[in-house]
Amino acid sequence: MRFDPVSNPYTPGAGQAPPLLTGRDDELARFDATLSRLTRGRPAQCPLVVGLRGVGKTVLLNEFARRAVARDWVVVDHELTATGDLFATTTRLVRDAVLQVAPPGAWRAAGQRVGALLRSIEVSYELAGLSVGVARSEEADARASMDMARDLTELLVSLGEAARDHGRGVALLFDELQFASTAPLGALVTALHKVAQRELPVTLVAAGLPQTRGVLAEAASYAERMFAPVEVGPLSDADAKRALAEPAEREGVQYDEGALLRAVAFTEGYPYFLQVFGDHVWRYAAGTPVAAEDAERIAPLVRDSLDRGFFVFRTDRLPVAQRRYLRAMAELRGSEVSSGDIATQLGMRSSAQAGQTRDALIRKGLIYSPRLGRAAFTVPQFDDYLRRHFELERHEPRARRPSDAARDR
Ligand SMILES: Nc1ncnc2c1ncn2[C@@H]1O[C@H](COP(=O)(O)OP(=O)(O)OP(=O)(O)O)[C@@H](O)[C@H]1O
Ligand SMILES: [Mg+2]
Repeated sequence: MRFDPVSNPYTPGAGQAPPLLTGRDDELARFDATLSRLTRGRPAQCPLVVGLRGVGKTVLLNEFARRAVARDWVVVDHELTATGDLFATTTRLVRDAVLQVAPPGAWRAAGQRVGALLRSIEVSYELAGLSVGVARSEEADARASMDMARDLTELLVSLGEAARDHGRGVALLFDELQFASTAPLGALVTALHKVAQRELPVTLVAAGLPQTRGVLAEAASYAERMFAPVEVGPLSDADAKRALAEPAEREGVQYDEGALLRAVAFTEGYPYFLQVFGDHVWRYAAGTPVAAEDAERIAPLVRDSLDRGFFVFRTDRLPVAQRRYLRAMAELRGSEVSSGDIATQLGMRSSAQAGQTRDALIRKGLIYSPRLGRAAFTVPQFDDYLRRHFELERHEPRARRPSDAARDR
């Protein structure tokens, strides 16, 4: 007997709400408290969801948004990309937000001020030969010379006053914040700092890879204190089992304990892997209850699907130097490894020789530095994938050619 594909409850994907949001109760309770504080005009740090790829950051951010909307907050959101212009994006979000706070006809002084500021920013963009909303990194650089911090501060303070006039709160949601460039992010943090001092009901809710904290620290010296990290990791064994079993049970399908144990061991509790596992069980199990043998037989299919769908596109267009770096890193095993050991593994004399390659990989979001001189993968089980798919090459030290630098970018 095969299960009905129409009632498959699992949600392998990006940002897709799972059938059961397991293991995030504390994070949600903390967020509810943050909203309550801000609503009462009390200061609260901006929530910053950090975690590895596929751990459920976007899903949590979306749930935060849902809860804010349920309290009549205005929520505007954006997913950053490596080439996006954070300043232009923020002005666009402010425009969307102020229109949701109240229609222009009902704006009081603060609302009018937001409208006027947005117009003048658009004019200064045009004078500089730029256009708000067209995302290009050169524009971000050019904009850095203009006074972004002043503009964003005036904008967010006026937006906050407008929101307060109408008894609303505003949450700006940013996903993939690790891609923010320093100058506009610094300006945004400055603006939020002012908003917090004035106790206005505007907050930033963000998510990103672990390097986001470093990106923020670089943007403003006091940024660490303005954000409350919400660290999301793999689910506990009990939560991982529930994530698989409960949605199936609602459709009349049971799991044997042995099957659950196999799935938890395979996925290590990582939410995306769990959803892919569940999806494969739904498609390939012999019937209910799902037995340990089913899980055993299905695991290689899940492995293959993850290899082809989740891992491969992270390596397939990578410059050779970067792929070698990752492969050397995988060889060392361990949740974090020393940059010096990676360099040795690559046949280099010092970690500085691989510095550009390492920085490029951090910028691309493939690795991060948990502390000085250490490196770790942002993708769970990536080391295993690399070891299975790439031969370890040993290299003699050699001089860099100019073409290498071009390839590393
Ligand atoms: N708490 C949870 N319980 C069960 N499944 C979850 C949970 N959180 C997320 N998922 C599932 O995990 C997958 C990944 O979630 P999500 O896209 O939010 O991860 P992410 O951390 O944003 O990943 P990325 O860094 O790649 O953007 C989705 O398929 C989602 O349905
Ligand atoms: Mg995400």
